[in-house]
Amino acid sequence: MPVVAQIEGEIREQELDAEGETRRRLALAQIRQYPDPALRMPAKPVEEFDDELRRLVDRMRALMVDASGVGLAATQLGILRRVFVFDTGEDDEEVAALVNPELVRRSDEAGTDDEGCLSLQGVLVPVERAVTVRIEGRNERGEQVGYDLEGFAARAVQHELDHLDGVLILDRTTSEARRAAMGTLRPRVVIG
Ligand code: NI
Repeated sequence: MPVVAQIEGEIREQELDAEGETRRRLALAQIRQYPDPALRMPAKPVEEFDDELRRLVDRMRALMVDASGVGLAATQLGILRRVFVFDTGEDDEEVAALVNPELVRRSDEAGTDDEGCLSLQGVLVPVERAVTVRIEGRNERGEQVGYDLEGFAARAVQHELDHLDGVLILDRTTSEARRAAMGTLRPRVVIG
């Protein structure tokens, strides 16, 4: 069994070699960073399942993997369409894509865990999420798909669905953690 890397919200904490680290930095450079206004805008439903959509999904899959992510929403690329990709946690399954996703079921049971976000580098805040969910939508070919998820994958799709509504982990955490996170983010804005 491979060592399971620690997963925090949208981010997989893993050791990378020099080439992997370069790919990660190049991918992150293409992902909108807080306080980019696109991260606060609600996305619109997808109506056309065309080659352009499939190219977008392919690009998102590659960026998510290169960035050490377990999820990535189109809004994080400044594209305001209801599309995200995520790691289902199944080894033999490719990175899944959900278009026009709807959370159709969520457990009453909730759990709190630290979450990071590819658009909020250096921030890790506690977020409460439903432990198990069922999410349905279409894949990039327009086929109806649904997933019953638990663990990190359930957390990841709730995080990605939030991105499509312009909601960030900063809105989901405690006021204390938010204040600490803002302290981490503020100097970055000045530098970068
Ligand atoms: Ni995120």
